[in-house]
Amino acid sequence: MIIVGNWKMFRGPEPSALVGLDAVVCPPFTRLRDCVEAGLTTFAQNVHWEPEGPYTGEISVPLLVELGVVGSLVGHSERRQYFGETDETVAKRTRAALEAGLRVIACVGETQDERERGETENVLRRQLSALEPHPDLVVAYEPVWAIGTGLTATPETAQEAHAFIKSLVDAPVLYGGSLKPENAAGLLAQPDVDGALVGGASLEVDSFKAICETAARIPS
Ligand code: 13P
Repeated sequence: MIIVGNWKMFRGPEPSALVGLDAVVCPPFTRLRDCVEAGLTTFAQNVHWEPEGPYTGEISVPLLVELGVVGSLVGHSERRQYFGETDETVAKRTRAALEAGLRVIACVGETQDERERGETENVLRRQLSALEPHPDLVVAYEPVWAIGTGLTATPETAQEAHAFIKSLVDAPVLYGGSLKPENAAGLLAQPDVDGALVGGASLEVDSFKAICETAARIPS
């Protein structure tokens, strides 16, 4: 089981409170160093494909590696929705990071509208076709309608999407979208759910710990 906390643009908990947890954290850039120094497995929330250059507001793989960061999220739906991220830029970021030795969690998922139109599988197929197989690639299925909304995919809906994703890529698949201590067990127990990408519930130490404890009880 892989449990990942995405702190988004929140300050997040004190890294020292998370020491010893079997989890990955994705803090905002300014907190990466504190998390690395506390010994946490630390990922960035995004990474550029060029090793350096005039790209204001971006961060490169070598700069992250120098800090001790070991991976990055790529293609989160908030980047796709609000910052113009496309399947092509997701693919470039993913390839550059993997080639330079970072692990990558590539995020995919359909909007409410796409689900209602019966487009879920087409959207997932399109998003995944931009990615090449790699041993350090993990996929996160995050249905956009479940992110930060309190709406969670049922375990059956998540399982169906995860099984479809696994028919297309050979990678662990994490579920994300309003995952909390109360619903974690049902989702994580699904055969094709290999872990969780947790937003809001990763900002509180107690709820993140509870999710990690639930994950630890699920036989692999
Ligand atoms: P929430 O858990 O807050 O819905 O966020 C999910 C997410 O986007 C994690 O990357």
